[in-house]
Amino acid sequence: MKFANFAERSYDHQVGWHINPDAGENAPERKLPYVDNGTGRIDAARYYDASVAAREWDRLWTRVWLIAGRAADIPGKGDWFRFDIGKESVIVVRTGDGPGDIAAFYNVCHHRGNRLVMADFGHGDHFTCAFHSWQWNLDGSLNRITDRDTFREPLVQDNPALTPVQCDQWGGFVFINLDPAPAQTLTDFLGSLPAQLAPFHFEDMVVVKDVETWWPANWKVALDAFLESYHVHSIHSEILPFYDDYYQQWDLLENGMSRMLMEFAAVSPRLEDQDSLNDGLKMMLEDAGMDPASFEGSARDVRKAIQRHKVPAYQAQGKWDDGLVENQATDDWAYFIFPNVTLNIHPEGFLFQRFRPDPKDPEGFIYDIQVILRPVETARPPVYMGVEDGTDCSGKTRPERRHIRHGEPGLGFVLEQDSMLVPVVQQGLRSRAFKGMRFSEQEQRLRHFHAELDRYLSGEK
Ligand code: FES
Ligand SMILES: [Fe+2]
Repeated sequence: MKFANFAERSYDHQVGWHINPDAGENAPERKLPYVDNGTGRIDAARYYDASVAAREWDRLWTRVWLIAGRAADIPGKGDWFRFDIGKESVIVVRTGDGPGDIAAFYNVCHHRGNRLVMADFGHGDHFTCAFHSWQWNLDGSLNRITDRDTFREPLVQDNPALTPVQCDQWGGFVFINLDPAPAQTLTDFLGSLPAQLAPFHFEDMVVVKDVETWWPANWKVALDAFLESYHVHSIHSEILPFYDDYYQQWDLLENGMSRMLMEFAAVSPRLEDQDSLNDGLKMMLEDAGMDPASFEGSARDVRKAIQRHKVPAYQAQGKWDDGLVENQATDDWAYFIFPNVTLNIHPEGFLFQRFRPDPKDPEGFIYDIQVILRPVETARPPVYMGVEDGTDCSGKTRPERRHIRHGEPGLGFVLEQDSMLVPVVQQGLRSRAFKGMRFSEQEQRLRHFHAELDRYLSGEK
């Protein structure tokens, strides 16, 4: 419940904020039960210590389900993409015409260890090593050992197939697991997530923006920053006129996952003026196809007005699926898929962010962002989706992955602000004076994530 006077607010951590206090027991936006992860302090060493990174490799990355990419990126038989995680590289390939005909293999040649593919995406009938042209079929079976007659039999008699990697799909994502016998099926691992997200129909969405970059920070420093909105008033204050950064619903889910439901088209309670139609709200109205000049009402009415306009309009266009709730017409539903993916979800699509460790440097990570949308022929996606003007959102062309350097433009201004902040935090964590993280309840998703990470690192999971 929002307080009439923000300065007099109080917070009960067992109760939390509810984005819709009237949500029914089975409503998608119902407040989920509080999970008490204690008040312990997270030690800074996990953000720079090479031994922690090595333990993460042994205990986490090689044992957990990971999002490798999108099934729609390999629509035809023989299409493949490469997914690198830590020191490993994996080829994900479409082996046939059925929806389940996707396989994954270690991207390494059995002759002398060359990588088989180097590009992000490709297509072929075989995988041919560029070094001495050994060749494998799409199903991983060996097709050719060049000049086999010159190998003595013990070296080739096993006809080495490509080494398979476990893979499965949900929501249009291809997941891989480097553990040959994963402790959990993908379904068990995802828990209630697929049911919660089913109304968005991710499987029908396509990539319209794809950027990969490297930041000088541990992957968890950045992930932590994207699991909370506590820093928004300070780092991204430009968005406060149309974004409630305080009254948010934080829900903790199974297996370290979580969500954060955030009101868009609502003025931050930190701002004094809660009534005037500010430029941010005008932008939100325009985005929704409404005329700000003729809008009658105060800033407090904008969010609901947009919902009442947008839902029937989307229904008429067949873009409002069963199971979506009115608040989703404006709000940002942020989900965390353990261990390294966040999604900011709207009915039009979502922002995908992925954090991959740099195998050579615990103080570096690879940052991937993609914008994944329900295909639209003409309509422009909402401005907060971060899609550049002129982008083809019809799904007919899949953009190339852009590789940009840290600090180069291309992420959009909010993410660029984060990209400047995160490496500076990394430096501070090295200080002898820093005695560990103190997480507020606004940061309960970070605590939940680290508690799950600890279960992996300790061997409990
Ligand atoms: S290393 Fe691949 S064929 Fe020689
Ligand atoms: Fe941020």
